[in-house]
Amino acid sequence: MAQTLLVTGGAGFIGSNFILYWMEKHPEDKIINLDALTYAGNTANLASVEDHKNYIFVEGNITDRELVDRLMKDTDTVVHFAAESHVDRSILHPDTFITTNIIGTHVLLESALAHTIKHFHHISTDEVFGSLKLGDTAQFSEATPYNPCSPYSASKASSDHLVRAYGETYGLNYTITNCSNNYGEYQFPEKLIPLAITHALVDKPVPIYGDGLQVRDWLYVQDHCTAIEKVLESGKTQETFVVGGLTEDIPNIEVVATILRIMNKPDDMLTHVTDRAGHDVRYSVDWTKINEELGWNPSVTFEEGMRKTVKWYLDNQDWWQPLLTANKDFFKTNYSNRK
Ligand code: NAD
Ligand code: TYD
Repeated sequence: MAQTLLVTGGAGFIGSNFILYWMEKHPEDKIINLDALTYAGNTANLASVEDHKNYIFVEGNITDRELVDRLMKDTDTVVHFAAESHVDRSILHPDTFITTNIIGTHVLLESALAHTIKHFHHISTDEVFGSLKLGDTAQFSEATPYNPCSPYSASKASSDHLVRAYGETYGLNYTITNCSNNYGEYQFPEKLIPLAITHALVDKPVPIYGDGLQVRDWLYVQDHCTAIEKVLESGKTQETFVVGGLTEDIPNIEVVATILRIMNKPDDMLTHVTDRAGHDVRYSVDWTKINEELGWNPSVTFEEGMRKTVKWYLDNQDWWQPLLTANKDFFKTNYSNRK
């Protein structure tokens, strides 16, 4: 049956991929995209659907209770992506992370409860679990205790706790996905993979924090969208699913080496710079539950996903070039002490 989805943060990287995916797969559903258009929000991502009769864009903040209430009236399902999402920015300026990720989530929960929303899906991260040990084989699962180490992951952990508390205490029908690092089309070029591609293309050194042996569990963004779809369609609530993409550890230096190889650039473009404060050294996700209970699998290998991603950034320079110019102060601040 057709439904209305309130998607928060739908002009960002994963949210816009999700909206494009959902509208293609579920054309009968209506999407309301609530996004504050921070530096990370970009309506250009959604140009292909902006005139669609089932798509409504609302520029606004998730902390605005009056606005959220107005939109919640017509909503069946909330898919909550809106967040401040970059660890380096959270180290420089934690305040907005607290406001958006914690207070904003609380406003949405209060409003969802008041409007008896059928399903509240919260998008979260594996970073809430903290860091695994390098060289270990342990993995994050739904049973892993929370141990966040950055202001970003601490604020996301807080939001997860609030969502669960609203489920347990007030009976809100919720689900949470804690997903690993995404990469793919429309990712803001401050994150490792698009930063490496956009630097390599203009023969700028690619900065690697510290020794570059840190490990992330990379997932192609389209596969994150299918995981969320599986959860929404399962009808299950009061459940958490961890989502990840890799079956082997790939250190950051190898991620960048793969990009340089695909782009036919020399290895020595990789440059070691000062490490990130409180840098988590290893993430790895055991996604058995979503695989066995909901039949979800990643659709592409890391090599395939990286090839698609490199091609997209090479073909869409008009999308990312203006972002580098508009955000040059951030890039300067984040890298100025990293010689
Ligand atoms: P992003 O930074 O690309 O996009 C965030 C979007 O939220 C932007 O469009 C921004 O304008 C909007 N936004 C920010 N503050 C807002 C506010 N107060 N009100 C309304 N809109 C606001 O982020 P992303 O990478 O697409 O991440 C989306 C979600 O997925 C986040 O919750 C993040 O924690 C989670 N997540 C991200 C990753 C990843 O690798 N990027 C992995 C796992 C989970
Ligand atoms: P990032 O893409 O910022 O995601 P997160 O911090 O949420 O995992 O960083 C991914 C990894 O790459 C992380 O270990 C930090 C590292 N990194 C670099 O080495 N150089 C860079 O310029 C950036 C942005 C990240």
